[in-house]
Amino acid sequence: MLRPEYPIRTERLTLRPFTAGDFDDLHAMTGDPEVVRYLYWEVHTPQETRAALDRRIAQGELTQEGQWLTLAIVPDGVPRVVGQVVLKWASIKHQQGELGFTLNPEFYGRGYAREAAEAMLRLGFEGLGLHRIYAACDTRNSASWGLLTRLGLRREAHFVEDELFKGEFGDQYIYAMLDREWRALQSTSST
Ligand SMILES: CC(C)(COP(=O)(O)OP(=O)(O)OC[C@H]1O[C@@H](n2cnc3c(N)ncnc32)[C@H](O)[C@@H]1OP(=O)(O)O)[C@@H](O)C(=O)NCCC(=O)NCCS
Repeated sequence: MLRPEYPIRTERLTLRPFTAGDFDDLHAMTGDPEVVRYLYWEVHTPQETRAALDRRIAQGELTQEGQWLTLAIVPDGVPRVVGQVVLKWASIKHQQGELGFTLNPEFYGRGYAREAAEAMLRLGFEGLGLHRIYAACDTRNSASWGLLTRLGLRREAHFVEDELFKGEFGDQYIYAMLDREWRALQSTSST
């Protein structure tokens, strides 16, 4: 079970659950073809974004397997949500979680996704007690797997044409980190 105290602070960011006032900022991402290019869904209509926002507002805690924790990313000095970071409680029995992230393209290239994703890894390993956190991405999504590499996840698998993705068979990478790898990273970064 994970019920974080909000807001969560990192060096330059506030992470918090989505609220009803975040519609425009969420739609700036869900309505952008560049953002959804390697995501499973197509560009959202405003109605679809409204439904997605309603789901996200309720995703501020993990109480059951299969749930997603979804947090809005708000940088210091920026009066809007610039991205989201997610952690799925994938398996209680196997202590597994799944990580994901999305930024508004106006805010790419500033390290915000990395900073937010690190906070989610901390919540997963130290808050929820997970043993392994993994992420899946399209092999063409170098921004995503570049970030996973910078975070310290290992490339564990390359699935070849394992999914029919937006009309064609696509390849996927699986990246992962174990709790002991997380602890080792923390001890090297604090020395
Ligand atoms: C995946 C995604 C979140 C990566 O965003 P990003 O901004 O490249 O990632 P980071 O937060 O790690 O930022 C890294 C960049 O910021 C730069 N940077 C600038 N200041 C920085 C700082 N203070 N700290 C760290 N990096 C910094 C880095 O040098 C790097 O630049 P580079 O890409 O030119 O090498 C983004 O491309 C995205 O939202 N894509 C669409 C959605 C998507 O596909 N999600 C993944 C699904 S699997």
